[in-house]
Amino acid sequence: GDDLLAVAHEYDIDLEGACEGSIACSTCHVIMEPDMYDKLEEPGDDENDMLDLAFGLTDTSRLGCQVK
Ligand code: FES
Repeated sequence: GDDLLAVAHEYDIDLEGACEGSIACSTCHVIMEPDMYDKLEEPGDDENDMLDLAFGLTDTSRLGCQVK
């Protein structure tokens, strides 16, 4: 897919994605710039549940694999 995780890998950015985008981990946690965050669709319930478990959660946290 063309999600942020896939793009990061394409550019050799070391973003982890242990569950390959199935919203079953929080290793792909990314902190977005506020501008960027505002442009994205709201995270879904599944994503929010996982984000609650992410280390260093912020107001602009997302799961990288869910950011399209
Ligand atoms: Fe597991 Fe994103 S890769 S939730």
